[in-house]
Amino acid sequence: MNQEKIKPIIKGMIKHIPGVKSLIRKGTGGTSESRYCYSVWFRHLKSWHAVYDKLPESAAELGPGDSLGIGLSALLSGVNQIHFLDVVKYWDGKRNLQIFEELVTLFKSRADIPDNNEYPEITPFLEDYSFPSSILTDDILENSLSETRLNLIRKELLDMDNPNNSFIKYQIPWFDLHVVKHNSLDFIYSQAVLEHVEELENTYDAMSKWLKSDGLMSHSIDFRSHGSIPTWNGHWTYSDMEWHIVKGGKSFLINRQPHSKHVEMNLKHGFKIIEDKPVKLENKLSKNQLSKKFKNLSEDDLSTSTAYILSKKM
Ligand SMILES: C[S@@+](CC[C@H](N)C(=O)[O-])C[C@H]1O[C@@H](n2cnc3c(N)ncnc32)[C@H](O)[C@@H]1O
Repeated sequence: MNQEKIKPIIKGMIKHIPGVKSLIRKGTGGTSESRYCYSVWFRHLKSWHAVYDKLPESAAELGPGDSLGIGLSALLSGVNQIHFLDVVKYWDGKRNLQIFEELVTLFKSRADIPDNNEYPEITPFLEDYSFPSSILTDDILENSLSETRLNLIRKELLDMDNPNNSFIKYQIPWFDLHVVKHNSLDFIYSQAVLEHVEELENTYDAMSKWLKSDGLMSHSIDFRSHGSIPTWNGHWTYSDMEWHIVKGGKSFLINRQPHSKHVEMNLKHGFKIIEDKPVKLENKLSKNQLSKKFKNLSEDDLSTSTAYILSKKM
C-alpha cells in the first residue's frame, strides 16, 4: 500500500469507533471571520454584476458553514431575501450577530475587498480588490444600510425560527426540492461546498428548479484532497473500501467528483456555462496509482485543483 495512505486509514479506523466521532466535531473554517465572508461575497457579486446591471432580489447559499456571514453581506448589499441551506448547523445566533455587526462596519466604511494576500485560498481571484462603488453606489447603500432595515435584519437574526421572517430563511438539513419555491430565485452561490455534496445529481436538479429562468449560479469548488492524503489529488487513489474507512463514519467528507462532473451536471440540468475558471496544479500521479473507479480521469481533471463556475439557467 502507498505509504501516504497508512496514517489517514488508521485515523479513519479510530473515528469509526463508537463515540470517538462526536468528540472531534469542529467547525468548517472560513465563515467564522467577517472579512472572509465579505471577501467571498464580493467575488460572487462581481460575477453576477458582470452579467446583470442590477442586484439580485432573492438568493440562496448552499453550505454557509460556521456563520451566515456571506449571505448577510448579500443582504447588506441590498439583496432582499436569502435562503441558507446546509446539512449540519455549524452556525449559532451569537456568532451571526457578531459577524453581522462587523460586516456593517466594513460596508459603512466601504472597505476594500480582502485580497489573496490575506486569504490566499479564496477563488475566484479578482483583478481589482477596491470597494466596488460602481456596483454598490451611495444611493444603493443608503437604502440597504438604513438603520430601519438593519434593525429588521437584527430582529430576524435573534428569532431565526420565526416563519414570518422575510430577509432570512434557512433549512437544515435540506434535501427536499420543495424547501424553496420553484422558479423563485435570482441567484444561487456556494463557496467550497459542491465538493462535499454527496447528492450532486439531486442538488443540481434542485438548483435548476429553484432558479428563475435566466437566473445565475456561482460556485467555487475545491477538488483537492482536504487532508485525506498529503498529495493534493491523492484522494483519487483510494479504493471505495479504503475511502469508506478514511471518511471515518462522516456522512460527507468530499465526494471525489472531478471538474468535468460539474460541467456535465450544469449541462444536464439546463444551465449554460458563462465562465469556467480552473486553477491548475501539477498532477504527479501515474495512471496505475489511480483506483479502479478513477482510472479514466482525464489529465485535465487530474490537474484541476479548484474551479469557479458561473452559469445561467436557460
Ligand atoms: C468547507 S465548508 C464551507 C463553508 C463555507 N461556505 C465557507 O466558505 O467557509 C462546507 C459546507 O458544505 C456543507 N455541505 C455539505 N454537504 C452539503 C449539502 N448536500 N448541501 C448543502 N451544504 C452541504 C457543510 O455542512 C459545510 O457547511
